[in-house]
Amino acid sequence: MQNIHWGVIGCGNIAHQFARGIKKLDNCSIVAGASLTTGRAESFAKTHQIQSSYTNYQSLVNDPNVHAVYIATTHNFHFENIKLCLEKGKHVLCEKPFTINAEQSKTLAVLAKQNNCFMMECVWTRFLPTIQHLSQLLAQNVIGDVHTVKANFSICSKVDPGHRLRNKALAGGALLDLGIYPLTLASIVFGDTPSKIQSSAVMNEDGIDESSCYLLEYEHGQRAILSSSITEYAPNDGIISGSNGYIVIPNFLGAQELHVHINDQPSQILSFPFDEDDNFVFETSHAMECIRQNKCESDILPLNKTTAMMTLMDTLRKQWGLKYPGE
Ligand SMILES: NC(=O)c1ccc[n+]([C@@H]2O[C@H](COP(=O)([O-])OP(=O)(O)OC[C@H]3O[C@@H](n4cnc5c(N)ncnc54)[C@H](OP(=O)(O)O)[C@@H]3O)[C@@H](O)[C@H]2O)c1
Repeated sequence: MQNIHWGVIGCGNIAHQFARGIKKLDNCSIVAGASLTTGRAESFAKTHQIQSSYTNYQSLVNDPNVHAVYIATTHNFHFENIKLCLEKGKHVLCEKPFTINAEQSKTLAVLAKQNNCFMMECVWTRFLPTIQHLSQLLAQNVIGDVHTVKANFSICSKVDPGHRLRNKALAGGALLDLGIYPLTLASIVFGDTPSKIQSSAVMNEDGIDESSCYLLEYEHGQRAILSSSITEYAPNDGIISGSNGYIVIPNFLGAQELHVHINDQPSQILSFPFDEDDNFVFETSHAMECIRQNKCESDILPLNKTTAMMTLMDTLRKQWGLKYPGE
């Protein structure tokens, strides 16, 4: 079993959760962290007992001890960070959204293949046991023909205007940060190619979406009714309705239960408990399995699915006239 050495680019908030997750996995460790913020890589390394810390990303990708890199910078930097890693032959696991648009994703998919690197977007919900089990239930037709998916992800964030969630320069906004999760649930249930896409967004003074909702229609009339917001409180549940019953996924982001309602029978609760830090464990162990098998992409989240999601989000942004700097 190959021992995989991780490097981390961007040592902010979520990088710490990744580091806690890695400690729970066998045959891997974080060997280096890099941050452009003064003192942050050093402190990250100290907190997680990591041997090397760098004040620039180039040094981390030059480190021969690093096999794979987890990228946890803000959205606007993902493209350049991933490219830097691939050009040095490092495997890549990059936080969502993979890039800011589909064109960037497509360019990187070609580069990953050219450099024989594994590359995957971190959308951890796809890898949760609960969601994997949901896919099995739907494949077994337990709720009959699925007609509708409803899902919301909202956080009422009280952050200042410079924070990445509200910052156009950092490719903030509800869609790319939060909306990607309800869109992912719809993609898991109905696939990646809605035939009709309608939406509506409330933009902030900086021109990014604070709240947005998406109505997707599919080939056989199925619908996904989805929303996200950074300015309101709301339940973050997913509901999948079919001709024979429905499934509720309470807090579908960190889904630990499926409430299955079939016809008039009493509802059944299926539980898949895990610790909060294990969010990362499922996707990271999958990525490492792929790397050990010399795969260039995941079969759960292949690069064409990532590009399809970026294309869908491009379409939604176009409907609101939202372009990020440089586009
Ligand atoms: N999987 C999940 O559940 C989850 C949860 C939250 C976030 N995320 C994703 O993880 C990524 C990072 O999110 P986060 O909450 O960890 O972000 P963060 O702590 O705000 O920032 C992460 C890093 O990005 C760089 N950065 C942040 N603001 C910057 C600025 N104004 N100018 C230049 N660089 C800046 C810094 O890199 P340096 O350290 O190099 O200075 C910082 O450490 C995003 O893609 C986000 O969507 C995922």
